[in-house]
Amino acid sequence: MELIHTVAELRARLANAHPIAFVPTMGNLHQGHLALATAARGRGKCVVASIFVNRLQFEPGSDFERYPRTLAEDCAKLERAGCDVVFAPDEREMYPQPQEIVVSPPKLAEQLCGSFRPGHFQGVATVVTKLFHVVVPDVAMFGKKDYQQLHVIRALVRQLNFAIEIVGVETVREPDGLAMSSRNGYLSGAERAEAPRLNRALQGVRAAVEGGARDFDALLAAASAELASHGWRVDYVALRTRSDLAAARPGDRDLVVLGAGWLGSTRLIDNLELAAGPDRAR
Ligand code: PAJ
Repeated sequence: MELIHTVAELRARLANAHPIAFVPTMGNLHQGHLALATAARGRGKCVVASIFVNRLQFEPGSDFERYPRTLAEDCAKLERAGCDVVFAPDEREMYPQPQEIVVSPPKLAEQLCGSFRPGHFQGVATVVTKLFHVVVPDVAMFGKKDYQQLHVIRALVRQLNFAIEIVGVETVREPDGLAMSSRNGYLSGAERAEAPRLNRALQGVRAAVEGGARDFDALLAAASAELASHGWRVDYVALRTRSDLAAARPGDRDLVVLGAGWLGSTRLIDNLELAAGPDRAR
């Protein structure tokens, strides 16, 4: 496996490497990231992962400075997962000039996480566009854990005509249901014990809707209140259509329940797709 730090070297290395399967990350890798690398291994002759903590997507006052940087360990894990090339640019390499040209995300980025993290999805869309231009992958893997991000990327590819297939990979979880995340490392012992409640709350909504419950507002409010009563500062618990993240209406099929909230100074997100839409009135 090769570790490359500059755009020029990467372009030279990848010129004749197609088909390329690409896994963009911010490092501090866990099994969720490695599931993306494994899925990529099955899709490309050359598997490229990027590791870059992208300042542009961290809203002011968030955790950019303390975000864990663990390049050596990350490279060892990627090598074991069958990765061929790791691209780990520094900030000057990714942003040699102030990034005046940015990619404005689609409307669906304004809601959910976007309304609590101003500028976040613009930063994501901008860096992913730049990474797509330097890697020129044939296929790129993104986790469903960041469900809204996956939608933003799909819209980016469609609306800016990237010839890249986007693959969504299922969320990898700890045994107690907590979605794996680099941010889980911020949690204290007590917060870590509390953290799986987000997933349980979403499971409760899913079971109720799959069982035929139709009063979505009451269900979501109850899930939110349950989290709040255990010390969570809830950003949202929402039931949306999978296809465009529009608010779900009774009778809609193909839904997803999404949640985001804070435990202390750590923000956690999760989501669950529903097996099918509600088809029985209650
Ligand atoms: P990062 O948070 O490092 O995540 C990199 C990729 O891993 C994303 O596609 C994310 O959805 C996926 N991922 C994270 N946790 C996962 C889990 N538990 N199961 C499955 N997949 C998981 O997302 C970003 O970085 C950045 O926004 C990036 C796209 C790299 C742009 O900077």
